[in-house]
Amino acid sequence: MTAPAPCERAAAVMRERASGLVPRVGLILGSGLGGLAQAVSDAVRIPYADLPGFPPAGVHGHAGELVLGRLEGVPVACLRGRAHVYEGHGLAVMTQAVRALKLAGCETLLVTCAAGSLVPAVGPGALVALSDHINLLGSTPLVGPNDERFGPRFFSLADAYDPALRARLRQAAQDEGLPWHEGVYVATPGPCFETAAEIRMMQILGGHLVGMSTVPEVISARHCGLKVAAVATVTNLAEGLGGEALSHEQTLHHAGLAAADLQRLVRAWLRRHPAPA
Ligand code: HPA
Repeated sequence: MTAPAPCERAAAVMRERASGLVPRVGLILGSGLGGLAQAVSDAVRIPYADLPGFPPAGVHGHAGELVLGRLEGVPVACLRGRAHVYEGHGLAVMTQAVRALKLAGCETLLVTCAAGSLVPAVGPGALVALSDHINLLGSTPLVGPNDERFGPRFFSLADAYDPALRARLRQAAQDEGLPWHEGVYVATPGPCFETAAEIRMMQILGGHLVGMSTVPEVISARHCGLKVAAVATVTNLAEGLGGEALSHEQTLHHAGLAAADLQRLVRAWLRRHPAPA
């Protein structure tokens, strides 16, 4: 018999501590966006350190805990804090955590992130639903031996950002009177921000947002059959477009300002989540 994978052990810890709650929606909360986890009712908090395969906490602004409970009545599992490629843990650093969500019962994953905007008219504070991505990370998290228990060796990323989930996000934005934007997210490894020339290249390639996260999680989630939606909070105009010097402080500042809007959007989206079949 093969030893249980870290994600199987993590899912067992979640089951043990969740006192019967089976999460249906996983939420990955990015830089400055962890506040949503505060709104979870009947919350059970599990530090990542207790969850095999979960990432070590790193970047300022990331707490590193899983919060199980209910948001708008929907059983959720919130990942407060994620690891990034630039921390040096490899592209698969979030894969076990994503698989653990699937094993714990989630059918759907909502990923939030901070991003720079490649569209001058969509500035700091805007919320943008991801419609697709361009992976400039140089690799994917699924390189290496494939664990067939989670998904096939080769798999499609067509409609990786689920159109039906995105339509519900759009309705949720309408419910809340929030402007609606969709766009293609370009993933870079960081930690440096891009050059102005790279930003011009990304615009030519068809990108609308640039960021240092999200794509590894989305690829891992699609491999194991989770449906995915993703929303970026624009924290700055990308290099060469705005004139403001880019910094992580600026990212956290603007993510914090937009956090209330993001919470309203996610909560309205969850209220529209269909009851279990
Ligand atoms: N580039 C890359 N990642 C980011 C940015 C940016 O301009 N803003 C927030 N995350």
